[in-house]
This record gives sequence, structure tokens and C-alpha cells, in this order.
Amino acid sequence: MSDEFTLHTSEWVYPSEAVKAAAKIKDYEALSAEAARDIEAFWAKRATETLDWFAPWEKVLDRSNAPFFKWFVGGKISVVHNALDRHIAAGKGDRIAYYWEGEPGDSREITYGWLNEQVCKFANVLKSLGVKKGDIVTIYMGRVPEIIVAMLACAKIGAMHSVVYGGFSEQSLADRIDDAKSRVMVTCDGAWLRGKIVALKDIADAAVARSSTIEHVVCVKRTGQAVNMTSGRDQWWHDVMASASPEAETVQMDAEDPLFILYTSGTTGKPKGILHTQAGYQLLISVTLSWVFDIKEDDIWWCAADPGWITGHSYIVYAPLILGATSVIYEGAPNFPGHDRWWQVVEKYKVSILYCAPTAIRGLMRHGDELPRKHDLSSLRLLGSVGEPINPEAWRWFYSVIGGERCPIMDTWWQTETGGFMVTPLPVVPLKPGSATRPFPGIIVDVVDEEGRPCGPTEDGLLVIKQPWPSMLRTIWGDPDRYVSQYWSHFSHEGWYFSGDSARRDEDGYIWVIGRMDDVIKVSGYRLGTAEVESGLVSHAAVAEAAVIGIPDDVRGHIIYAYCILVAGQQPSDELAETLKAHIRHEVGPIAVPSKIEFVPALPKTRSGKIMRRVLKARALGQPEGDTSALED
Ligand code: WT7
Repeated sequence: MSDEFTLHTSEWVYPSEAVKAAAKIKDYEALSAEAARDIEAFWAKRATETLDWFAPWEKVLDRSNAPFFKWFVGGKISVVHNALDRHIAAGKGDRIAYYWEGEPGDSREITYGWLNEQVCKFANVLKSLGVKKGDIVTIYMGRVPEIIVAMLACAKIGAMHSVVYGGFSEQSLADRIDDAKSRVMVTCDGAWLRGKIVALKDIADAAVARSSTIEHVVCVKRTGQAVNMTSGRDQWWHDVMASASPEAETVQMDAEDPLFILYTSGTTGKPKGILHTQAGYQLLISVTLSWVFDIKEDDIWWCAADPGWITGHSYIVYAPLILGATSVIYEGAPNFPGHDRWWQVVEKYKVSILYCAPTAIRGLMRHGDELPRKHDLSSLRLLGSVGEPINPEAWRWFYSVIGGERCPIMDTWWQTETGGFMVTPLPVVPLKPGSATRPFPGIIVDVVDEEGRPCGPTEDGLLVIKQPWPSMLRTIWGDPDRYVSQYWSHFSHEGWYFSGDSARRDEDGYIWVIGRMDDVIKVSGYRLGTAEVESGLVSHAAVAEAAVIGIPDDVRGHIIYAYCILVAGQQPSDELAETLKAHIRHEVGPIAVPSKIEFVPALPKTRSGKIMRRVLKARALGQPEGDTSALED
């Protein structure tokens, strides 16, 4: 994979005196050393500084049932208390939590006070629908403030949420509903995307029909088109909220009680419900946001992700609210109505910190420097990147054209499973464009070979985390065996977490993430399993067998190529390829549509029948096929 981009390991970019003077955290080395001396004391200190507790913990880290680690055992806490109640009690009800910008140009100012009132009301709505502590509410919504209300309302009463990204289609949504056994779903009539309506409620209806547990649907009116409302099952958000009481109690939770599950893609067709719990999650995400993005009272923070991904859960919803920050949320596409919409938003709200994905940067970079230069971007002081490696060219454009060479770029490496940043600079850390630099203090990361031996500076290896961390996933929902085998069994060392990424660590100890080593593809920053797309293809009657690979792409990072064997009697045609693309769009979602579908008589397989995607990829790229001794014929 290292052929896909060149490492520039010797180029340094140093923080300016102004950045250093402004930064809250001045000494990365001292904090790392403090953590290395006593990792439990390090996190315990931050847990006291950052969060309010109803009752103190008895044990910081319980390793007795590894890898089912427990953090802050015995502590009592609530994320809603830390995100809302304590700010209201401190008289900050009028402070802006979110400036919300709708795609059509409408806007809303969401205060902490309003958010709190809405959360209380919706908590009461959920209770009236029979939702109890430990139940899982499925949330399938656009990027509207109500998605945050819905998530926090679940947390307030001790229920869990499972947010399914609005880009997933009916079968994906149905699978996730069934896996979570959700009785209640919250959705919207539609979402705006590039001036068009994504008909969320229609997709939600189809998913309810294909799944077996939903009894109640609450629907937010956003786009206003006619939707089907099934009587006895569906209710409008505005109707149920009108009569709900604005008084609700925040339930005190155990530190290890579940907070949410979030489905992500793995190496099989079945998505993994990643479980995050209460205390450790809150702690790590708020400390990382505070230190890495240096959030202060007068900052305007914009994490341009979707609340439906972990980036949104951690750094749009929970961490900014815990820190009492003011954030921007923009509903729609970066290129609507023009390719300068993002720069307009930065100018309008005087955004001081912008955190986004390399694919978005590359997409906007293609449209030249003129568009960003038309806007006043001087409010920016820090930038951030997440989701895939950022190539040095995009890094430099982001740094110079968007950041005016003032703003260090925080390239944060992490995963749905890690909950928050693992490898990342702080503003004062010297940067190398394309490297996520070094581990966050308290996170023990290494690059090792298959036997677990540390790799040298010119060797590609596996990225591992060698000590548990507070916001680690706790299990895969309903599948603890898969949790153990997937993440904790790759090495013989107990408590080594296998990330699935390959990386290199250079002579300065800087980490260069290369990419996934498993059958996971990152398309425009979205994580997809080859098996998910393959099973989507095979679910069409014309397809007997399918194999999917990721091919490097300048803007999207990777795009999908699919190879299909047709059932007897079916003829390959361009028309059939288009039909299959439409089928994937419908079954899995627009993000999973292959860029190319090729019909083939056979697929390269091992003698045991496993498809050798590596060989397909080499052929597609015109590269040597490598060791093919395992090939069937
Ligand atoms: C995978 C996790 C982390 C929230 C969004 C994605 C890739 C993530 C970086 C980065 C290089 C990165 C990895 C990782 N990735 N951040 N800064 N540099 N690669 O979460 O969907 O769970 O995907 O994204 O391959 O394993 P996710």
C-alpha cells in the first residue's frame, strides 16, 4: 500500500510563536512522561479535572477480565449532566451551543438552555413510548439539531442510541434495527443534499417493513414533502413535543453502563455494533478535544462531519457540549450552491477551528484558490484532518490557502472503536505533513511486525495500541467472541489492541498511517467492508458471485471496483452494470456504489475458496501479482 503515496519524513513545519503562546498545553513531553509514570493516576487526575461525578470510583482500571477492561469502576456519572445540566446550573443557559446553518440558507441559534429544555421534553416522549434504561433507540436523521436532542434524550434516561447514517439505505438500516432490537425509531421526513431531498422517511418505512421490532416512529419535519404516516405507529416530533413536560430527571449511571452502539464495517458482511460506555468515553473525548483543538471560551468550533459517525458522536455532540463550547453545524453538501459554501460558512460564523476529512479538502482543492480567497478566513487559528491519510499536496493546500500558513493541522488518527483521538499532534508539536505525529499522552502505540517486534524506521508494520484506554470499545454488541478475536487475538501479548491499519514509524518516532490491511475500504472517508458490497451485489438475482476491491483515487482516497460472475443465462451488458449500481444504491446506500462493475467468468481464489482480492487489485492497477502460489489455477 505504501506505493500509494510517498512519505516525506524529513520535512518539518514548526508552530509559530503566536500558536505556542496561545496554546493551553505547552509541554507535550511532560504530559507523556507523566502518563508513562502512572497511566491510571494520569487518567484519574483528568477525570477529576474535567468531569462532575455523582459518586467517586473505587478502581481506575480493572484488568481482571481482559480484554473486557473496565474503567472507573464504582463511579456514578451522567454525560447529560456534564454536557448540559452543570452548564445550566452555572448560569450558562443563554450561551450558544450550536450555530446551525441549513443547506437552503436558513439558520438557527441553539442555546444550552433551549437544548436542555428540548432534551428534557424528548426524554419524556421516549419514556411515554415505553423506552427504558438499556433499550436501544435507532436514530436515522439528517444533520438537524433534533438529532442531537434525540441522542442526548436517550442518554438522559439511560437508554442507548444507535445512530444510522442517513446515507445508508433500507436493508442496511433494517439489519441494524434487527441487531439492536430497537422498538423506537426517530427519523426525519427528509434531508437536504445538494438542493434535493433525500427521502429519509420513505427509506425508514421500507426498513421497518423489512425488520421486525419497531413499534413507534417519531418523525421530524424538515423538508416538508408529503410522507406516509402509519397510524398507531408514526407520530410527528412537533406533535409529541408540544404536550411533553420540560421537566425530566437525569438518570445517574454506573461508569461502565452502556452509552451507545454505533455500527461500523468489518471484514464480514455483518456490521459490528461498537459499544461505548459512560465514563471513560466522556473523559477521553473531552480531554482530547480540549488539548488537541485547544478549545477556549471564545472559539467557534466546526467539526464538519456527520453526527451519524463516530467523529460526530464524539466531536460534534458529546465533547464540545461537555466543554461548554460553541460549535457550527452545516446541514448540507460542501459544494452547494457553489464550491465555496464551506468558506462562506467559515466567514459567516467566524469559525476559529475547522476539522474535516482529507477527501473534502481534495474535492474543494480541485476548484482552485480563487473561491477560498474570495472569503475572509482570517478567523481560523487551527485546522484538523481525520478519516484517512492526508496526502502532502492536500496538506499544503489546506495549510497555505485555507489556513494562511498560520494554522497548524491536527491530523488525528483514530477509529470508531477507539472513541477518540489516539495518534495526534497538539498545537505546540512540530508537524510533518502527512504524519499524525505521535500518540496522545496516555496512549501507548507501537508499530510492530506480525510477531509483535517493533519495526525499524523504514519498515511497514501493524499499528497496535499496547495498553487499554478510557474510551476503548467495550465489546461488539451481541458478539463478545468476535470482539476478542477481531481486536485482541492478533498477538500473543495480552491486552494488545490490533487496529487493522498498517503504519510506519520514522526515525523521529513520528507515525505515518498507511491504510487498512484488511478487507475494509475507505471511500471518501467512509468505511465500507468489501463483504457488505459483495453481499449487496449477490442479493441481485443476476449475480452468482462478486468480489470488490478499493482502487486509489485522487479525490476520494479509494473508489470501488466490483467483479461479478453472472448466473447462467444472464448476459453482461452496460445496462446490467447500471442496474446493479442502482441496486447497491438501494440496498446498501449511495456511498457503496461501485465506480466500475466488470463481468468476469471466474475470480482468482485460493484452493480453500477464499477470493484473492490482492490479485484482482494488482491486475486492475497493472502491477505485478506477487506470490500467487496459493492460487487455485
Ligand atoms: C479508520 C477508522 C476516526 C473517525 C473517522 C473514521 C482511517 C482515520 C486517520 C488519519 C490515516 C486514518 C484508518 C482507521 N483513519 N483517521 N488521521 N490518518 N488514516 O473512523 O470509520 O472507524 O475508520 O480510518 O484506516 O482504521 P472509522
